[in-house]
Amino acid sequence: MAVLVSGEGTNLQAIIDSIDSGYLRETEIDCVVSDRENIGAIERARRRSIPVIIVNRSNMLSILSPIFQKVDLVVLAGFLKILPSELVKLKPVINIHPSLLPLFGGKGMYGLKVHEEVIRSGMKVSGCTVHLVTEDVDGGPIIAQKCVTVESTDNPESLQQKIHPLEHQLLVETIKNFGEKKFVINNKKLIFI
Ligand code: GRF
Repeated sequence: MAVLVSGEGTNLQAIIDSIDSGYLRETEIDCVVSDRENIGAIERARRRSIPVIIVNRSNMLSILSPIFQKVDLVVLAGFLKILPSELVKLKPVINIHPSLLPLFGGKGMYGLKVHEEVIRSGMKVSGCTVHLVTEDVDGGPIIAQKCVTVESTDNPESLQQKIHPLEHQLLVETIKNFGEKKFVINNKKLIFI
């Protein structure tokens, strides 16, 4: 697979650790793609000798097309750019999002902003979602979710800290289920088996 990142890369690290522990079998990260330099995720990839490719908005399509052709799965693990639709159509692309979609998603909803909005809404549960990426930002079919309780003492930071480790579990479990064909992705539609 190819893993696309823009930040600290703890989700990337969870995938790496699951490959190294043998939880994810017959899985390899072909390359890590980033739209930023000097981020934690790149450091984590380099430490594991995974090739790193830096892209920007204008060269994304030409650089990523041959990469997407080669891999079975593309994982957005905190990647903040919107992928050109030509790329989204090429291969199954999944994304991890730190809320229970379809709530608190869409353009501009990333990082602490998501958790601020959850607290503001008064909702008593939140969580994370892995979904199929389509042209509709954070709007593709939902593959899997995990929930947490929002306590009255929670603030955006504490909620983020509660949800982050769940993201790691959910993303890795979903990649495993994809590899084991527990669901298949056909023409941007999900079929659970
Ligand atoms: C995560 O909260 C993920 O849900 C969101 O971006 C963040 C990335 O965190 N899409 P990290 O870089 O994997 O630590």
